[in-house]
Amino acid sequence: MQISIAGLDKFAAAFWKHVKEAKVFAFHGAMGAGKTTIIKALCKYKGVFGNMSSPTFSIINEYAYQDKEALKKIFHIDLYRLKDAEEAMQAGVEECINSGSVCFVEWPEKAPDLFDELTLHVLIEPVNESRRRLKIYTGVQSSQHMG
Ligand SMILES: Nc1ncnc2c1ncn2[C@@H]1O[C@H](COP(=O)(O)OP(=O)(O)O)[C@@H](O)[C@H]1O
Ligand SMILES: [Mg+2]
Repeated sequence: MQISIAGLDKFAAAFWKHVKEAKVFAFHGAMGAGKTTIIKALCKYKGVFGNMSSPTFSIINEYAYQDKEALKKIFHIDLYRLKDAEEAMQAGVEECINSGSVCFVEWPEKAPDLFDELTLHVLIEPVNESRRRLKIYTGVQSSQHMG
């Protein structure tokens, strides 16, 4: 599927409707592909509190939102500056992934072993200045189609 920068909010609504079960999301794509931008749109749709700073300088950013009666967390993790799975574990990434909270992870290929077959992978490729192609698939390679 393709999404435009103007269609991000609409995409976010469709995404959340579609992925009720998944908790861990691995975002693949080159620098500037749109990983952070799309993750922020997904968080915004959930109504996260406060401003979402870029995780460029911290490995793990934690956001909160109200889900009916419950206060829920979203972890936004950027593995770019880490070397490998060991460094990721030292940074506390595994705890986030196993926490049961939603986790969005940029540069998952830095620590591929941290992601089990329940992980939903999102591959982002540029089409032009304002459009991106998204491919969404699970760790067991069964492709999943949205909209
Ligand atoms: N359809 C789109 N989806 C996401 N980002 C887009 C889109 N079209 C243009 N962009 C722009 O591309 C850039 C992506 O940057 P960013 O999200 O930081 O990438 P990454 O996190 O993958 O390095 C932003 O400037 C964003 O505004
Ligand atoms: Mg980014």
